[in-house]
Amino acid sequence: MAGSMSNRELRPETIAAHALRAVDEVTGAVVPPIYLSSTYARDADYKPLLKENYVRNGNPTLWQTEEAIAALEGGTSALLFASGMAAITTLLETVPQGAHVVAPDVMYYGTRDWLKRLEGLKRISLTLFDPKLPGALEAALVKGRTDLLWIETPLNPTWDVIDIEAAAKAAHAAGAILAVDATATGAVTTQPLKLGADIVFHSATKYLNGHSDILAGVLVTAQENQRWADVLTLRTKMGAPLPPLDCFLLLRGMRTLFVRYRQASANAMAIATHFEGHPKVERVLYPGLASHPGHAIASRQMRDGFGGMMSLLIRGGFSDAQAFCTRLKVIVPATSLGGVESLAEHRKTVEGPASPVPDNLVRLSVGIEHADDLIADLEQALAGVSGPLAHSPNRGRAPSA
Ligand SMILES: Cc1ncc(COP(=O)(O)O)c(C=O)c1O
Repeated sequence: MAGSMSNRELRPETIAAHALRAVDEVTGAVVPPIYLSSTYARDADYKPLLKENYVRNGNPTLWQTEEAIAALEGGTSALLFASGMAAITTLLETVPQGAHVVAPDVMYYGTRDWLKRLEGLKRISLTLFDPKLPGALEAALVKGRTDLLWIETPLNPTWDVIDIEAAAKAAHAAGAILAVDATATGAVTTQPLKLGADIVFHSATKYLNGHSDILAGVLVTAQENQRWADVLTLRTKMGAPLPPLDCFLLLRGMRTLFVRYRQASANAMAIATHFEGHPKVERVLYPGLASHPGHAIASRQMRDGFGGMMSLLIRGGFSDAQAFCTRLKVIVPATSLGGVESLAEHRKTVEGPASPVPDNLVRLSVGIEHADDLIADLEQALAGVSGPLAHSPNRGRAPSA
């Protein structure tokens, strides 16, 4: 990087805006080059020029993006994967045969389903705890037997908050490591490694990229140890690194991470405040509201805004919540989160009847539009919930419920 300050001295906003290194040392390009080559030639002495010479093992575009994320999280090393799930399932591969894993009972359903699959295969033993019950996390850990405590905070889609510092202390006292899925905080407000976590995970598909145009996952470690070396070996052998073009798109998206996240947080706070106590809304689940059970921990742990993720419990049941989503005209009825455009999703439709998520829960990923447009859109959709369904003119398709 140009200038005299090392990357570790710079604030995260500056690291992100400069994509870690502002200027390419060879050409002076302000935007980093994309190394698309799948293989790299050896030199005259038949030695590789780089530390790796095949794209599955690593490449300069991958390394630059990983170094930027490690710097943002205050970690020693980061590894990028072809999806969030590829990163999660690779980390779970490092759990010893038959070892104990502890995780919350409500969380991103893809992770929960995978943990249950591993339990069903007797690959691991599993305890899911209720994060709302004080002491439940600590009680779930078994000293000498628990290998991994996996938490998510805030939890998708109830946005309950887990105290990372307390979780790290409890995990370490039991001889386990703590891994934190911090997808919903986008590396902006919470740095789990600084609170004692061993590994932090992001679905980089979400806030880190922020433009809903790639699939990516990342693990960042506090310490480069044997387990970390195993994660890298597994990623290489299973062929799961993020391809160079996607690394470039991710790095480009990350340059605006802080302004995107702060605008989304401000919009979400405006929406949450407006709809709390609304006659057609049973509850607003948003950690930024004083009424949210996780507000006190969130205020301590999320330094700079409460993020763009929230859920509305619509008055009524399954079909009212589904109908509400079909009536939105600005907010897009689609899955995923963390993009510049606001999205709404009826989670029970997506997660299926076995999901513990309430039937009337609609998850909102609040984007960076004008808050007044979003509030007006939600108001008009709520106004019609118990009446006949309106045609959605801007989508030209019939409502699904
Ligand atoms: C909290 C959380 N963790 C993990 C994932 C999985 O990530 P990906 O879809 O990038 O595989 C998601 C995806 O929605 C998520 O929301």
